Amino acid sequence: MSRRDDLIARVIAGYRQAYGEDPAQLYAAPGRVNLIGEHVDYNDGLVLPCAIDRETIVALGDGPEARVEVTALDMGDGARDSFALDAPIARGGEEWANHVRGVAHFLQERGYPLRGARMAAAGDVPIGAGLSSSASFGVAAALSLSHHAGHAVPASQLALIAQAAENHFAGCACGIMDQMASAASAAGSALLLDCRTLETRSVPVHPGLAITVIDSGIRRSLVTSAFNQRRAECEAAARHYGVASLRDLTVDALNAGRGDLDDVLFARARHVVAEIARVAPMADALAAGDTAALAGVLTEGHRSLAEDFAVSLPALDRIAALVGTALGASGGVRLTGAGFGGCLVAVSDADAGDAIADAVARYNAEAATPARTYRFSPGSGAAPIAFG
Ligand code: GLA
Repeated sequence: MSRRDDLIARVIAGYRQAYGEDPAQLYAAPGRVNLIGEHVDYNDGLVLPCAIDRETIVALGDGPEARVEVTALDMGDGARDSFALDAPIARGGEEWANHVRGVAHFLQERGYPLRGARMAAAGDVPIGAGLSSSASFGVAAALSLSHHAGHAVPASQLALIAQAAENHFAGCACGIMDQMASAASAAGSALLLDCRTLETRSVPVHPGLAITVIDSGIRRSLVTSAFNQRRAECEAAARHYGVASLRDLTVDALNAGRGDLDDVLFARARHVVAEIARVAPMADALAAGDTAALAGVLTEGHRSLAEDFAVSLPALDRIAALVGTALGASGGVRLTGAGFGGCLVAVSDADAGDAIADAVARYNAEAATPARTYRFSPGSGAAPIAFG
């Protein structure tokens, strides 16, 4: 059985066990890996993620009138929630349940009335690895509940609704990148996204390139990490410069207006300004298959995240150094996602797989937690799955 068939079988079996009948429909929403543009989405910047071939699958069917019943198959026995649609939907219970509650609340608030539904969800995006398991869960929930109620919600709306749920119900001040990547990606391409306007352009990945995720195995929780603090630091720096967001700063303005801004906030702002400027060259290099240019952009991106934004760890720096040296001009590697653990991403010549594997083996020989690599072709965004 393929990976997806396996997951579908698990979700259908879980639905049957929970509700004693078959689901009516299946939906999928992928996780993502970000190629460049890290910690810039909440500064209105540009980002370049792509969907991965790991996803959340939701099975859905009719439920009691004006009620949603949810079973989260990956969250242990008895991970169930139930809430009414015809009364205010409040936060409550586990974090996973709040994603669904939040999505239902914001769908209805934004003009998409829902109908009663039963839902079972499972996924194979590793949790806490920086590959957006929560965004894929939130987007899958938003797509399934809205589709079931007869609405064709545009991808950017689904993303905004899933983000609002994460911000206001799950307590993470995340930006819009992950949900947009999950909702709007096109197969074989990365998604160039302007986080201020939500304008998108698909950037085809040159066929001579491979994208490899290197999972450090070190897990973190976004909500409890310093993520919200980093966002607050960026907002404080933007206030110092008198701009709506750091997107509005040029390198010249950054230096000229420094004044009495302290070193930490200055470094955060410097990362954001430089990182936004790396996105267009990265998109060009990705489409052209220019590995030397990719190597330069990715190496600089990692350095900036580690030194100026301070979201790396010694173990992640070590993997980046080993893989970066092994690749030379045949590709680059950097930390991807929020940081403090999780994954790195390498974009390289398609035949550089052995060089990456050897470098990771060298790292594993000295590391407490082994890292693992996996290669994938960028997938497409959230969609119903033909079924039955
Ligand atoms: C997390 C957040 C995103 C983004 C990245 C860092 O994945 O959910 O919105 O801020 O971190 O680029």
